[in-house]
Amino acid sequence: MLNTSARTAMLYDRVRRVIPPIEWPAFADDIDAILDLKQQRNAVILAHNYQTPEIFHCVADIVGDSLALARKAMSVDADVIVLAGVHFMAETAKLLNPQKTVLIPDLGAGCSLADSITAEDIRLLRQRYPRVPVVTYVNTSAAVKAESDICCTSGNAKAVVESLGVPRVIMLPDEYLAQNIAAQTAVEIIAWKGHCEVHERFTPADIRQLREDHPGVTVLAHPECPPEVVAEADFSGSTAAMSDYVGQQKPSRVVLMTECSMSDNVAVEHAEVEFIRPCNLCPHMKRITLANIRTALEQNRHVVTIDPEIAGHARLAVERMLAV
Ligand code: 13P
Ligand code: SF4
Repeated sequence: MLNTSARTAMLYDRVRRVIPPIEWPAFADDIDAILDLKQQRNAVILAHNYQTPEIFHCVADIVGDSLALARKAMSVDADVIVLAGVHFMAETAKLLNPQKTVLIPDLGAGCSLADSITAEDIRLLRQRYPRVPVVTYVNTSAAVKAESDICCTSGNAKAVVESLGVPRVIMLPDEYLAQNIAAQTAVEIIAWKGHCEVHERFTPADIRQLREDHPGVTVLAHPECPPEVVAEADFSGSTAAMSDYVGQQKPSRVVLMTECSMSDNVAVEHAEVEFIRPCNLCPHMKRITLANIRTALEQNRHVVTIDPEIAGHARLAVERMLAV
């Protein structure tokens, strides 16, 4: 077995392009402890693409976009799942693993989209639009999912909407995602007014400035960005789709109009690509740290629980999505 410093030195080799040497000693001790704790507790760490590289590349077992995390959560073989991401992701993992312990290292890791809508809002929408199916973005609470017909993520929203075989759907809570999908499908979409606080800040003027400052740059935008931003971009897709685009197209210069850490994580794999990095941080994603992942495993906190009646309905909406 490798000793502590050999183990962390190998990990540092992987991330040295995005973590300065002066920062590494502050991470190495927690990484080492987390690797041991995972074995002791038979635990796995699921990390979203917006987690910082020392989490994403050094302690996570499963990484990806919201869809991949939900899919892979179904086949996790462990007693404990630590969700390095935000609360709705931990709830989704719990819905799909009711018998396992699911931990979120910081209960304050929320989401402006999840906060923009309640279960009561959906009941009112159903009164206003009877018989129109409700497609709910996974960035919502379990209580909101429980009131929905089916969930979607940015990676499968168009396919989910079209799978229903109806002329009109309600798609919530992200207004911009709904508008961006509406531009790609004949299905009429009734939107809600929620926004992602990270993506709503990008503007078309930002993209024009980036193209002027960095000639030849390829611009990729997440579909939570406003439609006029997506229209100015070269490609739009979920975080996984953006990462795949870089891997397959290998643009010489690229900018990802999304959360900051995403560029760091993709850059680790693609030394030949120059990443231009306008930085919009998600304060919720950034609540997760190596230190609180370590504490989560040491102290078994914070355990994610969902009211069984809500969980039953919410699980159905997630499972219907995964079946599409
Ligand atoms: P995806 O990883 O599914 O593209 O979601 C982006 C996001 O904002 C998650 O919070
Ligand atoms: Fe929510 Fe946006 Fe943060 Fe994702 S990036 S967790 S959508 S606020």
